[in-house]
Amino acid sequence: MSAIVADQLAGSALAVVASEKMPRHIAIIMDGNGRWARSRRLPRTFGHRAGVETLHRIVEECGRLDIPMLTVYAFSTENWTRPQTEVSFLMRLLAESFGRYLDRLITEGVRIRHLGRCDRLPQDLLERIREAERVTARNSKLQLNVALDYGSRSELTEAIRAMARDGVDLRSVTEEQVSAYLYTRGLPDPDLIIRTGGEVRLSNFLLWQAAYAEYYATQKFWPDFGAADLHQALQVFATRQRRYGGVISAE
Ligand code: IPE
Ligand code: IPE
Ligand code: MG
Repeated sequence: MSAIVADQLAGSALAVVASEKMPRHIAIIMDGNGRWARSRRLPRTFGHRAGVETLHRIVEECGRLDIPMLTVYAFSTENWTRPQTEVSFLMRLLAESFGRYLDRLITEGVRIRHLGRCDRLPQDLLERIREAERVTARNSKLQLNVALDYGSRSELTEAIRAMARDGVDLRSVTEEQVSAYLYTRGLPDPDLIIRTGGEVRLSNFLLWQAAYAEYYATQKFWPDFGAADLHQALQVFATRQRRYGGVISAE
């Protein structure tokens, strides 16, 4: 099939995106949960709960659209500075969500991979992650990378330390070697980075990997982000001309 009919699925205006114009790897900074809740006079935690449901809907939609890889920013290395009550709520919610959605993810052919530090996460969450990675290891419909206690600066610092430990000659280190020491080793770079919640910044997400990603920011808070919003991002992405520093046609 040379084209997909994206908006047919959401029931919104019909739009066709050629398959070669579709991203192979989408990364999402899922922001705005707290403000979504506050705008409804609810505690921030309600926003996080709603955010988990949004994530599942978007995972399903990526599957329908045959997008092979999705990376989501779920908790940053800086998010530990939030009030302790919010941090522990998030850790519990994440552990619970891995459990609750696991069967569905298996049926949907989703493969899970964790990106980030493992040494600070609560033991039960770490076990849920490991289990999810193990039981979904043979799935191949969609790979879902969950960035959790993830920060690019920490990732790069740890990579340099590990290279030094392994005796890599740092004087002649290559870009490929650096990539191979990141949490994302073996993964393709993201083509499209979506940020919800209105901010236009990376907040320490995939700094190395995003070198040539296209950016798309929307005011919508993450819990309100739906299939039609994803389609809109895809349509904008399809209009982008990616030059990678080169020129498109010889002059
Ligand atoms: C994103 O939503 C989720 C996490 C960072 C865990 P926020 O919690 O940052 O929500 P806002 O940005 O404060 O609205
Ligand atoms: C980025 O959102 C991290 C996640 C979405 C997990 P933040 O809410 O932490 O980012 P800042 O503080 O607005 O930069
Ligand atoms: Mg935020």
